[in-house]
Amino acid sequence: MRSYKIAVLAGDGIGPEVMNAALKVLNTIGEMEAVKFEYEYAQVGGCAIDETGYPISEETLDMCKRSDSVLLGAVGGPKWESLPQDQKPEQALLKLRGGLGLYSNLRPAVVFPALADSSSLREEVVSGVDVMVVRELTGGIYFGTPKGSDQNKAWNTMVYERHEVERIAHVAFDLARKRSGRVTSVDKANVLDVSQFWRDIVIEVHKQYPDIKLDHMYVDNAAMQLVRTPKQFDVIVTSNMFGDILSDIASMVTGSLGMLPSASLGEKYALYEPVHGSAPDIAGQGKANPLAMIMSVSMMLNYTLDLPKSGLAIQTAISEVLESGYRTAELYREGDKLVSTDEMSDLVIKKLTQVSERVT
Ligand code: IPM
Ligand code: MN
Repeated sequence: MRSYKIAVLAGDGIGPEVMNAALKVLNTIGEMEAVKFEYEYAQVGGCAIDETGYPISEETLDMCKRSDSVLLGAVGGPKWESLPQDQKPEQALLKLRGGLGLYSNLRPAVVFPALADSSSLREEVVSGVDVMVVRELTGGIYFGTPKGSDQNKAWNTMVYERHEVERIAHVAFDLARKRSGRVTSVDKANVLDVSQFWRDIVIEVHKQYPDIKLDHMYVDNAAMQLVRTPKQFDVIVTSNMFGDILSDIASMVTGSLGMLPSASLGEKYALYEPVHGSAPDIAGQGKANPLAMIMSVSMMLNYTLDLPKSGLAIQTAISEVLESGYRTAELYREGDKLVSTDEMSDLVIKKLTQVSERVT
């Protein structure tokens, strides 16, 4: 029996709830595919700080390196907000991304037909949207030096090296080839040297992809265009911080931040996590939407574990559950069927068996 080691880092807030829900789905896939998933658990973020004093330990990083893939829930919360910058729960994420070399972050924003009227934007604007935000994840202002602060000033540095821009550009162009063949590179080249550098290199790499249509957009304009006509985009490639911001905007086009999964990929390792945070205000109440985490599992099946049929089955199952009117709290409106985190995952599992018979 094929077997995979999965490192499970549930984290804080709603992290453990959505992780639980997603692992139930993964276990079902295991039974259906006759594949064994072996889970190894570790604490990261605030819960790890409480236990060990550090947001992530070397052992946990090593555990991830020994695994075929990593699943992460969410980290952070008000309890740890006043800690010094380098001791905050979020450092766990940055250490994982940096330590595992996960330079490429894929954040697909897809509008499910059943949710086309759930966005704060008009239905005709969002229906059919299918955008892939390719966010550079191990460089830029998140990792640049020098950085620091004193009583009178604080500073970070936005820096990109040639090879960092080249490799993320390749990721975007390769992805576009499998999609509709368009890439929009987002920068702030009218102001920032680092952005002009980014743009020049993207143009250079593009020469190897004559079949792909490339255009460039300033980040302020891109933010506006994303809410004006999101359908104009296919693949968006951008730097670490711009990608952070644009992917939150893209998520609201889909109706909810609870609907956005992500894959973080490098040469050797892979990590999958929802784009949403730990939502401490609703933690432990069964209100969290597990679908972003479940779709992150679906991405893992696609990109890392070579089980794309199951990845697709999960997507289809989710679509049909939504079609039947089931909604978690943040998407619920009168007339919908309100379900808890666990109920949502059970519904997906029930659909999965039916769906998998159809897609084979
Ligand atoms: C995300 C989050 C993280 C980021 C934070 C929690 C460090 O917002 O994954 O989008 O800024 O990358
Ligand atoms: Mn973010």
